[in-house]
Parts: sequence; structure tokens; C-alpha cells
Amino acid sequence: MKVRFFLNGISASIDVEGGERLSFLLRDRFHLKGTKCGCLQGRCGACSVIWNGAVTASCLIPAFRLSGSKVITIEGFAKTNNYKDIKAGFAEAQVNMCGYCDGAKILTAESILVKNKEFTREEILSAFTGIRCTCTNPGALVDGVFAAAKMRKGRFNEPKRR
Ligand code: FES
Ligand code: FES
Repeated sequence: MKVRFFLNGISASIDVEGGERLSFLLRDRFHLKGTKCGCLQGRCGACSVIWNGAVTASCLIPAFRLSGSKVITIEGFAKTNNYKDIKAGFAEAQVNMCGYCDGAKILTAESILVKNKEFTREEILSAFTGIRCTCTNPGALVDGVFAAAKMRKGRFNEPKRR
């Protein structure tokens, strides 16, 4: 069956098989390798994307459910200023990034920051429970999200140039 959806803000149309999942569709057919495939059971979070505004494990999304929906992968998000805030915040807090679930962590951080509300360390840790990252210190991750929030706030408060 053919599905039409928005991938990183661009209209996409593709024929999919019944058992196909979004994670493989992204990697194998759209060549977006920033979405990693790990457990394929919704447990490790490495395959996370933003689907209709929420961070979701793409290995759990059957391709036929994509019709009319909006998918943002790390490649699409990397083109935004919001991405730069998170990269800079993570760098400041020395968040370790081995390459395996970097994208998932960045998209999860964005799911917190995009709400534009105050949040606690516990709320940050809770948002990251869906990601089984074995190489990042949770304390650094929390500090990285706070640092990113500060950078974003600073950016929004910059005086407008005429
Ligand atoms: S590969 Fe999707 S959650 Fe692990
Ligand atoms: S970045 Fe998560 S396992 Fe290394």
C-alpha cells in the first residue's frame, strides 16, 4: 500500500509492505541512518523519532500507520537552531556521545525543552527512562538539558536586530 506522510517537513510518498516498520523504512529506504535499530521491541529507545510531536520508538510504528502523520528524525532536527542549543548544552555538561543513541537523547531533550516550562532533575530523568544509554552519566545528561534550556532562553531573549 502507498502511504503519504511528512518526513522532516517534506511530503513523502512510498509503497510499504504489511509488516514493515518505520525504523527500517527510515534507514533502508530513506537512508536516514541516524535512527538506530537496537532491541526492536520498544525497550532501548535508540530508534526514537518525533512522531506527531511526541518522542516515539520508530520500531513500534507499523509503516501503514504513517498516513497523514509527521515524522522528524535527527537528520531533520539537526538543521534547526533548537538542535544547536542542545548540542551546545550537552557539550558544556560533557555529555558522552558514542554515536549509538545520540539522536534519541537529543530528540528526548527537545521533547522537554519544547514545552517551554520549568522542570526538575527528576522530570528530566523520567523523560529519559525510555532510552537505555549505557555510556552517558545521568547526572551529566541532566546538567546538559539545563544548560541547553539556558542557551535557548538566552537566544529567545536576544535583542532583535533591525
Ligand atoms: S530499537 Fe526501537 S526501542 Fe530498541
Ligand atoms: S550514546 Fe547511548 S550508548 Fe552511547
